[in-house]
Amino acid sequence: MENKKRILTGDRPTGKLHLGHYVGSLANRVKLQEEYDSYIIIADVQALTTNFENPENLSQDTFQIAEDYLAAGLDPEISTIFVQSMIPEIHELTMYFSMFTTVNVLRHNPTVKSEAQQHGFSDMTYGFLGYPVSQAADISIFKAHLVPVGEDQIPHLEFTRKIVRRFNDLYRPVLVEPDILLGEVPRLVGLDGKAKMSKSLNNSIYLSDDSSEIRKKVMEAVTDPARIHKTDPGHPEVCTVYEYHKVFNQIEVEQIEGECRRGEIGCVVCKKRLAGCLDALLEPMRERRSKYSQNPGLVKDILMEGTKKAHRVAKETMDEVRDAMGINYFK
Ligand code: TRP
Repeated sequence: MENKKRILTGDRPTGKLHLGHYVGSLANRVKLQEEYDSYIIIADVQALTTNFENPENLSQDTFQIAEDYLAAGLDPEISTIFVQSMIPEIHELTMYFSMFTTVNVLRHNPTVKSEAQQHGFSDMTYGFLGYPVSQAADISIFKAHLVPVGEDQIPHLEFTRKIVRRFNDLYRPVLVEPDILLGEVPRLVGLDGKAKMSKSLNNSIYLSDDSSEIRKKVMEAVTDPARIHKTDPGHPEVCTVYEYHKVFNQIEVEQIEGECRRGEIGCVVCKKRLAGCLDALLEPMRERRSKYSQNPGLVKDILMEGTKKAHRVAKETMDEVRDAMGINYFK
C-alpha cells in the first residue's frame, strides 16, 4: 500500500453524475483504485465559486455525489473519498501558491474563460478566477502522481504542473508533478447531438436513471436527419446514437454500422439496442446504490472516515511545505 503511486481526482458537487462523467473519468477511477492509492475529492469549495448564493444545496449535493461514486463502484475500503472544505490545509496551501501566481495566467486559462462566458460573467470574483490555484493545492497536497479527468481539466493540470515546478524551484523539492490521464472518451456528446453531455444542457443520462427513463431519453436522441424510412441508407457518422454504440456497445457496433448504411435496421430498433446496453451498464450500479440509499448514515460514515484520513496526509505535506518555506517558526 505504501509503495503505491497516488491518484487524486474529483468533482464539484453540483448534482447527479451522468454517463459523460463515467466515461470521462469515473470508469478510470474504478479501474485503477486497486493499483493506485486513490483519493477522491468532493470539491465543495470549488462549487461555491458559482453557487455561493445557494450554499444550502451543497450538503445534499455532496451526499448525492458520494452515493454516485459508491454506486459506480468506488470501494470505500480502498478508495478515500473526502470533502474539500473540511481540510483547511488545502486552503492554506492555496494561499501560498497564490503569492507566485499572476492574474494574467489565470485570466488566460481556457477553461476559466469558457466557464466565465457560459455563466455570463462580465467580471470575475477573486474566488472564481483563482479556483485553478485551489485545484493545484487539492492535487499537490496529496503528492498525486496521476489525475484521471476529462478533457476540460487539461489546462488545470498544466497549470498545476507549473505551480509544482515553481514551488520546488523556489523552496525545496517537496511536491510531485502530476500526470494527467484522460478517459476512454474525454468528451461524450449529448443526446441532442451537442458537443457535450451536460446537466445545464438537459441532454444527459444520469447514473441514477431507471430503465424507463433511459429508454425514453434514448428514443428522443438525435439521429441522421436524412433517414425517414427504415430502408433509407443511413450515415452513422452524423448520428448521436451511433456515437453511443461506439462507446457503450463495442461488440455490436460494426454490425450496426453496416446495417444502418444498407438501410437494414431502423432507428427505433437501433435505439432499443442501445437502451438495452446502457441499462445493462447501470444495473449493477442500481444494486450497489440501494445499499446506500437505504442507509444514509453509511455514506456519512464513509465521508467522515475518508476525510479524516485525507486530513492526516494533508497535514504532513503542509508541515513539509512550511519547513521548505522556512515558516515553521515554532518547531
Ligand atoms: N475542476 C473539477 C470539476 O470541475 C473538480 C476538481 C476540484 C478536481 N479539484 C480537483 C478534479 C482536483 C481533479 C483534481 O469537476
